[in-house]
Amino acid sequence: MLTLEAVEAGYGRSRVLFGLSMTARAGEVVSLIGRNGMGKTTTVRAIMGLNRPTGGRIDFDGRSLSGLAPHAIARLGLGLVPEGRRIFPSLTVEENLVATARAGSGGAGAWTLERVVTLFPRLGERRRQSARTLSGGEQQMLAVGRALMTNPRLLVLDEATEGLAPLIRAEIWRCLHELKQAGQTIVVIDKNLGEMAALVDRHHIVEKGRVVWSGTPGELDASPELARRYLGL
Ligand SMILES: Nc1ncnc2c1ncn2[C@@H]1O[C@H](COP(=O)(O)OP(=O)(O)OP(=O)(O)O)[C@@H](O)[C@H]1O
Ligand SMILES: [Mg+2]
Repeated sequence: MLTLEAVEAGYGRSRVLFGLSMTARAGEVVSLIGRNGMGKTTTVRAIMGLNRPTGGRIDFDGRSLSGLAPHAIARLGLGLVPEGRRIFPSLTVEENLVATARAGSGGAGAWTLERVVTLFPRLGERRRQSARTLSGGEQQMLAVGRALMTNPRLLVLDEATEGLAPLIRAEIWRCLHELKQAGQTIVVIDKNLGEMAALVDRHHIVEKGRVVWSGTPGELDASPELARRYLGL
C-alpha cells in the first residue's frame, strides 16, 4: 500500500533522511523505531507532504505522492495523528471530530461520530466540553478520533502514547488492537517496544535517516545486539 524508496529529505540545508526505504502492505501494522532525532517524524512529514523530499520516491497504492499538497495526500486516504497532539482547543470535542469528518473508503469500515465515541467512551461523556478542558490523555484520544473521522486507508501515529499515564496508554493500545482486527493499515511510531511487540507485524529500525533493519518483533527479540546498537537499550 505504501512504499518509500531511497527517500531523501531535510530542513533547509540540513539533510535528515539519507535514502530511507520502507513498506506497509494493506492490513499490516508496521513501526518506525529508533533513537531520538534519527528521522522518524521527518519520514512521516515526507509521507504526508509536509516536507518535500529531495530524492527517492513515495508511492501510495501504486501512485506517486510526489508534488502533491498535504490536503491532496490526506484526501487519498492518509490520516495522521501528529507528534504533540494538535487539536482545536476552543472547539468542543464533538466539533473537533466533525471538523475533520470525511466520507471515504476507509480501511476499517466507515467511521462516524458514534463509532468514535463507542471506541473512546470518555470522549462521548465529554462531547460538549471544549477540547482545552480535556486531560492530556483525552486530548490524545481526540487526536486519534479526529484522524479516524477522515476514514483513512492508512493511519499514521507519531508518538501517540508519549507522556500519557499508564491507564490512558493502555486505552490507546487497546484501540489500536481493535483497529488492526478491523483490517486497518497502520504505521506506528512509539518508544514502547513491549506494547508494540503484541501489535506490530514488522518493525523498521531508523538510524541516521535510513532503515537499517526490518523484521518481526520476534526477530528483534532474538537479536539483543540490535536493540543495544540501534535503540540504546
Ligand atoms: N523543523 C526542523 N528544522 C530543522 N531541523 C529539524 C526540524 N525538525 C527536526 N529537525 C532535525 O531533524 C533530525 C531528525 O528529527 P526527527 O524529528 O525526524 O527525529 P525523530 O526520529 O522523530 O526523533 P524523536 O524520537 O525525538 O521524535 C533531528 O536532528 C532534528 O533536530
Ligand atoms: Mg519524532
